[in-house]
Amino acid sequence: MTGEPTRWAWAVVDLDAYAHNVALLKTMVAPSGVWTVVKADAYGHGAVPVARAALEAGADGLCVAITAEAAELRNAGIDAPILVFSEQPLADIAEIVQLGLTPTVYRADYVTALADEVRRVGAMPLPVHVKIDTGMHRVGVDPVETPSLIAHIASHDDAIRLSGLYTHFAAADTPEHPANRIQSERFAKVLGELGPLAHDVAIHAVNSAGAMSMPAERRSFVRVGIATYGITPGDGVVQHCSNLMPVLSLHARVSRVQRIVAGEGVSYGHRFVADRSTTIATLPIGYADGVPRRLWSEGGEVLIGGKRRRITGVVTMDQMMVDCGDDPVSVGDEAVLLGRQGDDRIRSEDWARALDTIGYEITCGIGPRVPRVYARSV
Ligand SMILES: Cc1ncc(COP(=O)(O)O)c(C=O)c1O
Repeated sequence: MTGEPTRWAWAVVDLDAYAHNVALLKTMVAPSGVWTVVKADAYGHGAVPVARAALEAGADGLCVAITAEAAELRNAGIDAPILVFSEQPLADIAEIVQLGLTPTVYRADYVTALADEVRRVGAMPLPVHVKIDTGMHRVGVDPVETPSLIAHIASHDDAIRLSGLYTHFAAADTPEHPANRIQSERFAKVLGELGPLAHDVAIHAVNSAGAMSMPAERRSFVRVGIATYGITPGDGVVQHCSNLMPVLSLHARVSRVQRIVAGEGVSYGHRFVADRSTTIATLPIGYADGVPRRLWSEGGEVLIGGKRRRITGVVTMDQMMVDCGDDPVSVGDEAVLLGRQGDDRIRSEDWARALDTIGYEITCGIGPRVPRVYARSV
């Protein structure tokens, strides 16, 4: 590893592993395109370096959740198409136009406001994508109201250009879920009703799980996030994920070593009490950095000296303790919380399973005070 920061807790983001995953997905879905999802600071991996790596690896566009995320990419000199996944506050419209983003629209008022701003500043016609809510019931236009929204966009064609129509599946990670068929049918129906209006625009529908398990829905391009980070979208598609490489690993160095005797408690509330003499190592990383407080009681482990060590006592805000038994351990030894050490590996999915959540929440939760080191594995 190169360029380790001075803080004794850091994350390594392997951009070669990321590029490998993007290339794998591109091959899988070709001739459909690939837009990579870099919202939420690239799921905690760092938006700008990851977006650059995505474009180098052949991504056709980028997707974000909010205007500020797109602005960060533009400010870094990234001029690729950027789709913003949902309508933004009206106060953001000037910035959306000025940055040349591709906004998602689903309300006529919002379309009008965008068109007014384009005219006000004399900008080039802005591409927009219409999101159709076929059953996720989060954001999007109702299928029944889609034709009239498209007509409204057409009435502003001096300022706004329809360049995409899309939907989002609620249960793509569970291929047998009946909602997938229902949403597919609703999407096909509305596209059919639009006829020629839907012909010259990008059509897109699936995330990572759908890209893997719903080949018919790959359409113009897929919008892939979690799989590019080498994390399984869910158990239902795990068979498609064997060649993905985890991108982020999380590391710390032992900051204190102590020997305790049977009966001594460790950490707040002494919820762990030693039943034998043992060596406790402290790591200077805690829940403010994204190690969930209750990981300790759900069997959480870290790797030190190539062996798994149980987290001992509640994870505190900035520090946590692990039980090293009778093994030698020294201040400065490296601990791997996520990633490989020796022959063993702890994955975000392992934490997610223990905590009854998903891998997305694990990497998104790694806080901004954890320095990211960008590495190339080859
Ligand atoms: C609309 C939309 N498309 C695609 C994605 C990417 O999903 P995934 O990370 O599962 O590939 C997301 C992420 O939540 C999303 O909100």
